[in-house]
Amino acid sequence: MNSLKEKIIFITGASSGIGKSCAYVFAQKGANLVISARRKNLIDEVADDISKKFGVKIYAGKVDVTKRMDVIGFVNSLPGEFKNIDILINNAGLARGLNKFYEDNPDGWEEMIDTNVKGLLYVTHAILPGMIERKFGHIINIGSIAGHEAYPKGAVYCASKHAVDAITRSLRMDIIDKNILVSTIDAGLVETNFSKIRFNGDEEKAKNVYKGLTPLTGDDIANAVVYCATRPPHVNIAEITLLAARQASATISYRADD
Ligand SMILES: NC(=O)c1ccc[n+]([C@@H]2O[C@H](COP(=O)([O-])OP(=O)(O)OC[C@H]3O[C@@H](n4cnc5c(N)ncnc54)[C@H](OP(=O)(O)O)[C@@H]3O)[C@@H](O)[C@H]2O)c1
Repeated sequence: MNSLKEKIIFITGASSGIGKSCAYVFAQKGANLVISARRKNLIDEVADDISKKFGVKIYAGKVDVTKRMDVIGFVNSLPGEFKNIDILINNAGLARGLNKFYEDNPDGWEEMIDTNVKGLLYVTHAILPGMIERKFGHIINIGSIAGHEAYPKGAVYCASKHAVDAITRSLRMDIIDKNILVSTIDAGLVETNFSKIRFNGDEEKAKNVYKGLTPLTGDDIANAVVYCATRPPHVNIAEITLLAARQASATISYRADD
């Protein structure tokens, strides 16, 4: 097994949801962390709590992944002991709106494509040269079942996650000779702040997404990420898809009151 002790894990979007769960679960396994998000106060709280609970080394920074120069600046200015990133978890991402394409607000398209696609590219491009030089690394993308199937009113979010799937597969081919693994973890319904953000803070609409079933949790996804990161060196988990037990696809779920 690959041990996580003494490894450096860089997690984007660790102020909430899946990214935050990944920070805790990796720290519990003894990994050292670089965590980032835009909300510096939240990321600092996560870092303080993890450092008290698990005693691992942790470095927290404010990074907006849509800002390429900020991403490069952050990676280049990492303190020496955090520079050699072993595992990158590209998690920062969001959906905006759930509307028929012709009624949708293009501002949300910009945000989704800039974050889910371009942000992931900027971070990966900044981290990869070091992995290539050290001939060691693992890139784990948080994709979605929306990267495998399209659903109504989700054209641009689905497109952005299809892009993540394509980037994952192409990148794996490009670095096949570099001893760097590339994986994707693709989930269905996970209860985080995702739906609140999608519906611009409308709690009622957000709650309805998970009504009548037990959704996945951030920890469920984090445990799959850890599984992926701890296989023996000759194994690459290319992809894991997780669904809530009562979810068959992006559009078909069995709800208690169905
Ligand atoms: N929840 C689901 O059902 C589900 C299912 C499949 C896949 N996913 C994917 O899982 C990932 C995490 O989402 P989540 O469910 O955990 O939602 P969440 O609770 O809203 O967390 C999203 C995280 O992304 C960060 N983020 C958003 N925009 C960012 C930016 N421009 N720069 C840096 N960080 C940014 C947020 O931090 P700040 O706001 O502090 O920057 C936050 O930490 C996303 O890629 C999402 O597409 C979610």
